[in-house]
Amino acid sequence: MTDLLKMLDLSGREIFEILDLADQLKFDQRRGIPHRYLEGKTLAMIFAKNSTRTRVSFESGMFQLGGHAIYLNARESQIERGEPVEDTARTLSRYCNCVMIRTYAQQEAEELARFADIPVINGLTDFAHPCQVLADLMTIRERTASLDGVHLCFIGDGNNMANSLIVGGLKAGLRVSVATPAGLEPDRAVLDFAGQYGEKFTLCHDPKQAIAGAEVVFTDAWTSMGRERGEAERRALFAGYTLTEELMALAAPGAMVQHCLPAHRGEEIAADVFERHAAEIFEEAENRLHVQKAVLCLLMGGKKG
Ligand code: CP
Ligand code: NVA
Repeated sequence: MTDLLKMLDLSGREIFEILDLADQLKFDQRRGIPHRYLEGKTLAMIFAKNSTRTRVSFESGMFQLGGHAIYLNARESQIERGEPVEDTARTLSRYCNCVMIRTYAQQEAEELARFADIPVINGLTDFAHPCQVLADLMTIRERTASLDGVHLCFIGDGNNMANSLIVGGLKAGLRVSVATPAGLEPDRAVLDFAGQYGEKFTLCHDPKQAIAGAEVVFTDAWTSMGRERGEAERRALFAGYTLTEELMALAAPGAMVQHCLPAHRGEEIAADVFERHAAEIFEEAENRLHVQKAVLCLLMGGKKG
């Protein structure tokens, strides 16, 4: 692994290598065992979109690993004024050991990686959110022990989260069922990939059908960052897509709920469902820290031994 740009680039073996190291780092962090594997290393973090979890977990993670993180708001940097991505890439490669980018076009993250001499991590694009899905897989595995054959369901917009969960879930051995409104299906490249998995992947437009028997239920915002235009019309497409207790009754008994956050109560998830599953949702949020520390260690070669 030289960059983390999208789940499509990772092998199943690489996914489990990240999850295993993340488990170890979580254990160390919880017990106060020092793990300063990235001493003297610097991460640049470019943000063209808002963030709470991604910024704070990367910044805290670098600190805990003995390194340092630099926050670069795209709007306040020369990126906003049109400096080409290849020049940003070559400049940051002279100062830093790794760069994380949160932006709109996946192409921009890919270009950054092409021109940078240092690893690039995708901290969310319109197409993908790989750091989140690695944290999600970690959280599920903590509860189910094995991911093999676990039934994961996603109900909502065919967005970056849907794209990444489908690919990451299938690569890690899960069964994946998805319900999106017609016209808001996941990306074509993702559906082509999922097509190789036969009955392990299903896509429909009926949340009740997709959730039937699911052991892990995901949802996400109906309006992702950058998609705010026509929000009212979009919302009308999601009738019947709110994750309510009635819908959850169709999932497997004791099913988990996962949400990458921020959550919009009364839209994609009912407030009572959110609160009943808050423990696992905030465990998922915490696991961003551990899984990203693992990614940083593996990419910067700071892993012990
Ligand atoms: N889930 C997630 O990426 O959260 P932020 O937008 O707060 O970073
Ligand atoms: N799909 C959401 C995820 C936020 C973490 C967005 O892109 O805004």
